[in-house]
Amino acid sequence: MHGEVVSRKKIIAGNWKMNFTSQEAEVFLKKLVPLVKANMNSEIILCVPFVDIELAKRETTGTNIKIGAQNCYFEKSGAFTGEISAEMLRSLGVEYVILGHSERRTYFLENDKIINKKVKAALDENLKAIVCVGETAQQKEWLETNEVVFSQVSAALQGIKAEDLKNIIFAYEPMWSIGTGKTANFEIARRVCAYIKKIVKNLYEEQLPSDIATLYGGSVNAKNVKQILSKDTIDGSLIGGASLDVEEFSEIINIAEAIL
Ligand code: PGA
Repeated sequence: MHGEVVSRKKIIAGNWKMNFTSQEAEVFLKKLVPLVKANMNSEIILCVPFVDIELAKRETTGTNIKIGAQNCYFEKSGAFTGEISAEMLRSLGVEYVILGHSERRTYFLENDKIINKKVKAALDENLKAIVCVGETAQQKEWLETNEVVFSQVSAALQGIKAEDLKNIIFAYEPMWSIGTGKTANFEIARRVCAYIKKIVKNLYEEQLPSDIATLYGGSVNAKNVKQILSKDTIDGSLIGGASLDVEEFSEIINIAEAIL
């Protein structure tokens, strides 16, 4: 399989960001669950605020929806006021965690080194890490996308063993496209995702059983998701705003499912 693009089941990951109290989350999930078929080929993930995790796990028990978090700290425990460890997430039954989201990089000053430590902490607890990478508007203008993506991907993987790559998903999220209604040109997104797969292969210089999974994120909605998911190197999508609307999110899931 080395060198080939492997077609895999599509991944649809919602990122609620700082939205929905537990009460609101409950209303949303009670509507979503009946709209999502029990046996789906796609991987459906909802990354919810920490305080909604328990409720979300409970509401989605026995369904096809997996619950993820949006961040974790890299230390195991101790005097880190306000932080949440990977072990705490694991103990609640969380399976995924978004790391290195551009909002974390921008507003909370997370750098590549911190993100790499968080990836290791998540993997140590058997969580799957959804690692976000992507360029700013200015970097895009200066044609630095590949350079930025290369340095973010390779820094995130520093010291990670090849056998752990199956638990890492990269999300290409150009910063200028997040929450702006401006999606990347899909052909460019396809190429960047192909480039991420190539970076990982080159870094590991070995026969990986399959390519690393790559998502596109940034203003994805029910209208454009089909086009995005039909690109062969894009294995799914990380969805912010449109994951807050239950009808739209379930429509996106159904579209992903129909593509298979
Ligand atoms: P958006 O956010 O879909 O609202 O653009 C995507 C993300 O930040 O993951």
